[in-house]
Amino acid sequence: MATSSVSYKQEIVFSAAIRIFHWLRALAILVLVMTGFYIAWPFLVAPESSDVLVQGWIRFAHLIFGFILCAITLARAYLFFFSKSDIERRSFRDVMSLKSWIVQLKSYLWMGKLNKAGVYGPLQFMTYLAVSVMAAVICITGLVLYANVYHQGMGGWLWDISGWITAQMGGLAMVRIWHHYLTWAFVIFVVIHVYMAVWTGIRFKHNSVDSIVSGYDYHPDKH
Ligand code: HEM
Repeated sequence: MATSSVSYKQEIVFSAAIRIFHWLRALAILVLVMTGFYIAWPFLVAPESSDVLVQGWIRFAHLIFGFILCAITLARAYLFFFSKSDIERRSFRDVMSLKSWIVQLKSYLWMGKLNKAGVYGPLQFMTYLAVSVMAAVICITGLVLYANVYHQGMGGWLWDISGWITAQMGGLAMVRIWHHYLTWAFVIFVVIHVYMAVWTGIRFKHNSVDSIVSGYDYHPDKH
């Protein structure tokens, strides 16, 4: 592709599965943060009201999207290790290279270019790893809370392991508090993530945000 003076190189970076999971996960996190905060502070219905269905429907939506997030967290971990394209896995080379860290941090301060082996820079890779761990912990604590509300079916099946996790975390109140703290960690991550996605697109003349929609990245040929 060519513009008036610069020619651009186009390459596929994100498979359809990665793009679909990204947006499903974004939707799940949005719904879970909103419904989760409501569960924590149910402000729509007066305590003396007999209209208890508002809380019920919101908890129902929380659980549906909670299980969707659990499924995506597992599928995404599988794809990271076993997908045909190694464009994500390749980024680990940069994480292990001190030089790559210095190059990335300098490029963020407008010094030099960002040369990456894969699709993510080292700081970006470590941030996504931390977010994946956060997702795993919020799913586990969510399932523990679930098992304490529903004692049959899957809840019953999870009961013993939930009891063990609850004991390790210092009681059910602590499980709830960590589930709540992690909600704030997700809120902070989403704000920084969206800002950085737009900023890197402008800073490095990349197709940053649209590439997670279309799958394609493009950047100046002499990059
Ligand atoms: C990004 C993901 C998630 C966020 C942001 C989130 C947020 C929250 C918040 C803020 C609460 C209220 C805690 C409080 O009382 O202070 C909550 C409760 C709860 N969450 Fe989540 N959650 C997430 C994922 C999950 C998952 C994966 C599950 C399990 C499938 C789950 C199941 C529950 C349950 C069972 C409750 C308690 C509901 C009740 O008290 O009746 N959550 N969540």
